[in-house]
Amino acid sequence: MMIFLDSADIKEIEELATTGLIDGVTTNPSLAAASGMSFSELITQITKLVTGPVSAEVTALDAPTMIAQGRKLAKIASNVTVKVPLTFEGLKACKVLASEDILVNVTLCFSLNQAILAAKAGATFISPFVGRLDDCGADGMNLIEDIVNTYEKYEIDTLVLAASIRHSQHVYEAARLGADVVTIPGKVFRQLYNHPLTDSGLAAFMKDWQKSGLKI
Ligand code: G3P
Repeated sequence: MMIFLDSADIKEIEELATTGLIDGVTTNPSLAAASGMSFSELITQITKLVTGPVSAEVTALDAPTMIAQGRKLAKIASNVTVKVPLTFEGLKACKVLASEDILVNVTLCFSLNQAILAAKAGATFISPFVGRLDDCGADGMNLIEDIVNTYEKYEIDTLVLAASIRHSQHVYEAARLGADVVTIPGKVFRQLYNHPLTDSGLAAFMKDWQKSGLKI
């Protein structure tokens, strides 16, 4: 399973990318707005920090302007993935951009029917928003399961990118269900490696080793 960072914080991306464990980055207009940087500079810098896909979202609501924005974003770097919303206009834009071999991440997906249309439109990635479904009392992971199983049944190449991830349990469940990618905030990335038994076990090893006087 690939791990993308859901962030527009250059310092955070830089720090976590040094682990070599970050396979890509996703941004969205809210994250970009909070970055305090010009959008083109933000995306340019991120595409230099990671070699994998970097999602940059269009902000137009009509297909022609989405397509124009998508073409402009795709020119920033070869690893730019153009993000379009799962709307009637977004699907039309996805179809055109994908036909021009531009990577497309169709975002704000909340149903299997939407995911089926995104795949038909040639989406590279589909982004079902797990956390936001959970937030309104649904079980977002059911959608991940439905999409993974349906895409598998019809041998659909679109990659399932589990998004709106709130905690490490979401990552665990997405992995078990076979999602291709999870995109996670830095806070969740840090939860993935932290375990109290690892910490206590290491402390015990170190204590016994220091007592022994042994050297490597
Ligand atoms: O960036 C896409 C998605 O992961 C954002 O989810 O619910 O944390 O805003 P959310």
